[in-house]
Amino acid sequence: MSTKPSLHGHVHILRSLITIQIPKITNTQKANMHLTILLAVAALVAASAQEGPTCESSCGNVTITYPFGSGEGCYYTSDFLITCNRSSGEPIPFFRRSNIVVSNMSTSKSEVEIMTFVGGDCYNSSGSRVRRNQPTLTLRGVRISAKNKFVAIGCDTYAYFRGIRGKELDGTGCISRCGRNSLITNGSCSGVGCCEVAVPEGLRTSNMTLRSFNNHVNITDFNPCSYAFFVEQGKFNFSTTNLIDFERVTKMPMLIDWAIGNLTCDQAKDRDDFLCKGNSECDQDYGGPGYRCRCLEGYEGNPYVPYDCKDINECGRGNHDCENDAQCINDIPGNYTCKCGKGYNGDGRKNGTGCTADESTIVKIGVGISTSAILLLIFVSWLYLILKKRKLMMLREKFFKQNGGIMLQQRISGDGGSHDQAKVFTIEELKRATNNYNESRIIGKGGYGTVYKGVLSDNRIVAIKKSKLADQTQAQIEQFINEVVILSQINHRNVVRLIGCCLETEIPLLVYEFIPNGTLSDHIHSKGKSTAITWEIRLRIATETAEALSYLHSAASVPIIHRDVKPMNILLDDNYVAKVADFGASRLIPMDQIELATIVQGTLGYLDPEYMQTNQLTDKSDVYSFGVVLVELLTGKKALSFDRPEEERNLAIYFLYSLKEGRLFQVLDERLLLNDVPSEIIQVSRLTERCLRVKGDERPTMKEVAIELQGILSSMIQKHPWVQSGSNEDEGEYLLKEPITNDYECTNGGNVSNANSSTFDSMSKHTMLPIASGR
Ligand SMILES: *[C@@H]1O[C@H](CO)[C@@H](O)[C@H](O)[C@H]1NC(C)=O
Ligand SMILES: *[C@@H]1O[C@H](CO)[C@@H](O)[C@H](O)[C@H]1NC(C)=O
Ligand SMILES: *[C@@H]1O[C@H](CO)[C@@H](O)[C@H](O)[C@H]1NC(C)=O
Ligand SMILES: *[C@@H]1O[C@H](CO)[C@@H](O)[C@H](O)[C@H]1NC(C)=O
Repeated sequence: MSTKPSLHGHVHILRSLITIQIPKITNTQKANMHLTILLAVAALVAASAQEGPTCESSCGNVTITYPFGSGEGCYYTSDFLITCNRSSGEPIPFFRRSNIVVSNMSTSKSEVEIMTFVGGDCYNSSGSRVRRNQPTLTLRGVRISAKNKFVAIGCDTYAYFRGIRGKELDGTGCISRCGRNSLITNGSCSGVGCCEVAVPEGLRTSNMTLRSFNNHVNITDFNPCSYAFFVEQGKFNFSTTNLIDFERVTKMPMLIDWAIGNLTCDQAKDRDDFLCKGNSECDQDYGGPGYRCRCLEGYEGNPYVPYDCKDINECGRGNHDCENDAQCINDIPGNYTCKCGKGYNGDGRKNGTGCTADESTIVKIGVGISTSAILLLIFVSWLYLILKKRKLMMLREKFFKQNGGIMLQQRISGDGGSHDQAKVFTIEELKRATNNYNESRIIGKGGYGTVYKGVLSDNRIVAIKKSKLADQTQAQIEQFINEVVILSQINHRNVVRLIGCCLETEIPLLVYEFIPNGTLSDHIHSKGKSTAITWEIRLRIATETAEALSYLHSAASVPIIHRDVKPMNILLDDNYVAKVADFGASRLIPMDQIELATIVQGTLGYLDPEYMQTNQLTDKSDVYSFGVVLVELLTGKKALSFDRPEEERNLAIYFLYSLKEGRLFQVLDERLLLNDVPSEIIQVSRLTERCLRVKGDERPTMKEVAIELQGILSSMIQKHPWVQSGSNEDEGEYLLKEPITNDYECTNGGNVSNANSSTFDSMSKHTMLPIASGR
């Protein structure tokens, strides 16, 4: 502070010097130059200031600010002189050269606070005036601020002031009296013990007058004095004790307004000594006389010191109105920016437009949200798929294990893998083969499950069976594996060959060779086909079926009981070669047992009555069922039909009855177009009767049946060699050939193991060859 007034003084000298040296310079250059010089001078002064400060920055506890000053050259004009009296200890600042003490000053409000005398008017109890002082205030160029009020204290008091306002005389006053004591209240200055009145604006001088109505006699409590004074608002608070003790108070603070000179802003602004410079502006609201400076909004400092108004860092102080989520930046001189968050628009001010999300941001946010949602969705689905796939893999692995896949693999590899036995397929292979189990690929559906036609990658056509299996115990799994292994090893031309299986599904899928011509049942019972299938073909089919069953019963290392022999399970290929199929119900009978207790299973009408009673499964059960098949071949009727009269419902029983009654011819299939009953039919009928014996022991074995049928067939062919020429031309050739020892080896490319083939040696001797080789 102290350097600025003196700096100002120096500038004047320097400025005149420069103006002389460079007479022609533009205003902006001038301004720039001033600034440069100022800075230079500031450096100079700062250096010289240390030698001896010429201007005091304060006097006592009052800070002296320009245009006031207390030393020569430190104040603007003598009107702003502060006399600092240091002769009595504590320095006391006096206004100009008067006895008026300055207690505060403000450049921003252009005010100065002075201590003015309190007027008094005292009487003794007899009503004689003891003393009276009525101070006057006469200060050139300043005015009494309207922020003061005029106060009078006393119980018999009448006080007023007069002064010059503009060019008029003006004044006002108030009366204070005391009624009863109780009415005098602390803090209340409304005419009882105390009164106050506002000071009019623009009063320049003041003459104070104090009067009493009754010289302070005739009042309840004797109160000797009246007091009157001007005081800054808020600096005096009436107390009832003031009536007695106010004698000791001699001065009260009062505000004085000041201005520079007696010219208006417009008159003064072009003068060299004009003080409002830099970010200081001349206050146009002030009517004069004189002018006032004030810092521009957003700046602070002493407006009367050129270039002292500095930008306020509103953000640093926190006195800004930026919204909470807006960032306050003090980037504009005299102002600041409230920066809204990214994607928000507006001035960011609480009293302004605030911060609002702009449209593009809404779109962006929307796009962002949806993009991330999509990404999340993709990620989640991906994760889901991965997990699902993993779960599926684990499930498949579990099923593979559960279904004995490992065991099976071991069994297969243990066999040396020498031939195309059961292959373990993967789910994918079979899915591809069946076109994902397409409906159009279904070739059979029933209680056992569904059979699909499939094409393997090597173009082999296969039938894929999806069984319906109940839950499996470990023993059942092992059995299943055994079955698969054994069936896969069966390489009999009259048994549908198991190509492989898939164990990755809960229910194992079985893959069989594909037999194109449907089931025997279709051929016997559907009208369109029945005519084509002659007695000779029927006999051949019966023989082949018997051979297959015989083979199952005795050939494999472990006997296999088919358990569900019926025309539905006998498939025919293009040459009517029979293929026994569906081992879904089949059971292996361990070597040390000849019978096996099981839950009765099979198809009604074909079921062995003994087995139904005892639950003891033996190979003779298959013999019984085969007997029913023979009956069906002979009669062309269904094994069980509720459409028929009661005695005819069970075909087997009805057939036996008819046979016994000698009415065989009546029950024979009329589509066989027979004129009389040939001996072959009689032979077959007798065989059938034996097969259908109630007691299993009385039935022939399958092997015996097969041999007998082979015999009947070959004698029939010898008798009528022309019979079967219509069914297959090739067969004629075989008639002339030597019997082939092992038919199975030939037809199956030598894949059958020795054990199996040797089992059939005996059978082969009685061959059925012309038919057997039919491809
Ligand atoms: C300073 O004040 C004392 C008394 O307080 C007075 O005697 C003296 O004259 C004053 N000096 C000036 C320069 O006003
Ligand atoms: C002096 O004046 C300033 C501004 O008007 C005020 O803030 C401050 O309190 C005053 N000081 C005293 C001691 O009255
Ligand atoms: C203005 O003040 C100057 C001195 O400061 C004085 O000479 C002049 O007479 C005044 N003018 C008016 C109109 O008061
Ligand atoms: C600061 O800027 C705002 C917006 O631009 C405006 O409304 C305000 O009046 C300015 N304040 C100052 C002190 O210039």
